[in-house]
Amino acid sequence: MLKFAPSILTADLARLKEVVQEAEAAGVDWIHLDVMDGVFVPNLTFGPILVEAVRRVTSLPLDVHLMIVNPERYLEDFARAGADHITVHFEATYHPHRAVQRVKELGKKAGLAINPGTPLEAFEPLLPELDLALLMSVNPGFGGQKYIPTATGRLQRLRAMRDQLNPACLLVVDGGVNRDTVREVYQAGADVAVAGSALFNGRPVAENLKALKEVLYA
Ligand code: DX5
Ligand code: ZN
Repeated sequence: MLKFAPSILTADLARLKEVVQEAEAAGVDWIHLDVMDGVFVPNLTFGPILVEAVRRVTSLPLDVHLMIVNPERYLEDFARAGADHITVHFEATYHPHRAVQRVKELGKKAGLAINPGTPLEAFEPLLPELDLALLMSVNPGFGGQKYIPTATGRLQRLRAMRDQLNPACLLVVDGGVNRDTVREVYQAGADVAVAGSALFNGRPVAENLKALKEVLYA
């Protein structure tokens, strides 16, 4: 079964508590929080203080996606704020292995993410240590972007790497997942789909989630 992790980036943050609790009631699996610093990506979102706020309103796993340079600086802060998973970008640190080790020392599930232009081989050295491998299917920074089709083949290859090196590692696909792409990413090997605009778009989350599952399991 594909898990769903709604990204609050496209949610109405003026109603953060309601939207998170609506998503939980609709049956999503995780809450995905996109942290952006305006340097690693051309957008600026929020820090640990928002993770703390979301922590207070849901018991779902908080899946923190750090799109920030030198994420090592903030791992303790996000762990303390209540993150359950912390995913760092391979491209954002000189020492991805050390960053992943530190997340695990903090007792959190550790993820590594790569951008659409980064060779899949970047996962290879770290896969044995990872709880999550996040494949970006859009260039990071914004919600509502179009799925990059090469992500499908990359997911298939990543699945083979994962099966060989660490069968317990979950494959997360992030970006442009909607009714047109959700079946494709699931069949290609995704265990978890991050979805922002497909779940938070003014229509009830439960309706959006049902629509995705209908396409998925049709
Ligand atoms: C983009 C973020 C994604 C994004 C997903 O940098 O990492 O999580 O919010 O939004 P959609 O599903 O609308 O592409
Ligand atoms: Zn994300």
